Amino acid sequence: MFEPRDHVPTPAELAGRVVAITGAGSGIGRAVALACARCQASVVLIGRDAAKLDAVHGEIAAAGSPEASIALLDLERAVARDYDALADALLERYGRLDGLLHNAGLLGTLTPIEHYDVPTWCRVLHVNVTAAFVLTQLLLPVLKKSSDASVVFTASSVGRRGRAYWGAYAVSKFALEGLSQVLSDELEGISHIRVNTLNPGRARTAMRRQAYPAEDINTVPLPETLTAAYIALLGPASRGVTGGAFDAQPPARPSSTAAASSPDSKARSSS
Ligand SMILES: NC(=O)c1ccc[n+]([C@@H]2O[C@H](COP(=O)([O-])OP(=O)(O)OC[C@H]3O[C@@H](n4cnc5c(N)ncnc54)[C@H](OP(=O)(O)O)[C@@H]3O)[C@@H](O)[C@H]2O)c1
Repeated sequence: MFEPRDHVPTPAELAGRVVAITGAGSGIGRAVALACARCQASVVLIGRDAAKLDAVHGEIAAAGSPEASIALLDLERAVARDYDALADALLERYGRLDGLLHNAGLLGTLTPIEHYDVPTWCRVLHVNVTAAFVLTQLLLPVLKKSSDASVVFTASSVGRRGRAYWGAYAVSKFALEGLSQVLSDELEGISHIRVNTLNPGRARTAMRRQAYPAEDINTVPLPETLTAAYIALLGPASRGVTGGAFDAQPPARPSSTAAASSPDSKARSSS
């Protein structure tokens, strides 16, 4: 059975491939961008912060990997012409897109549904779901130019089994599982595009700190340790695999905190 987290990438595994990653300036997106470049992909770094993207671009250049490109796109504010411009630029520069990783995301707040702030709800759903839908739709023509393309949506444990207080974030991740299933079903048999979701599990990032401020962050795996599963799903190792929901880490063992019922303890098991 195909298990992306057991994958061992080879040095030129993504050679000749063009892979676009949202939220590539920090956290998991940055780590995956660097890993893809190490495997010889041409990486398109998509994000809203030019300085962060420049820094990743520089790291890729310093490592002697294929030159990356930068696409500034704020997923909260982007309008149709911004997405069109990105699709046109990709087509002009590369002629196709072989991998698209939807990694950017917003946590929102950990709040009971009864009290969830409506504007925050709308922001989270927009960035996490609607923007990913629009970007996918606008990039489908470029993905169709590839003979072996892969779309990966970033999942979460709380988007596979609902958990109290995770509000818009959890709902947005459930929606991405649905979007992935619908799209994979539509494309199967009529295109070379596969569509899957990948839950990174716990990773030492800004979002993790925001969700678990009292946790010792040093006990949480670095994003760099999780990239093999991303390479597997974005590259040739997953050819023919579509409509799946995968995990970059083995499932967490049930703990006493996970079984507890106070709001605090529910927000402290893995996301
Ligand atoms: N860390 C975990 O434990 C964990 C667990 C399960 C799932 N995940 C998922 O993994 C993905 C990456 O998260 P992370 O942990 O690496 O957190 P992170 O470091 O906070 O990264 C989130 C990324 O999303 C980008 N982003 C947010 N709003 C954006 C917008 N409006 N336009 C463009 N980019 C935007 C951020 O850009 P800036 O750098 O400019 O802020 C950042 O690059 C997310 O989808 C998250 O839900 C993480």
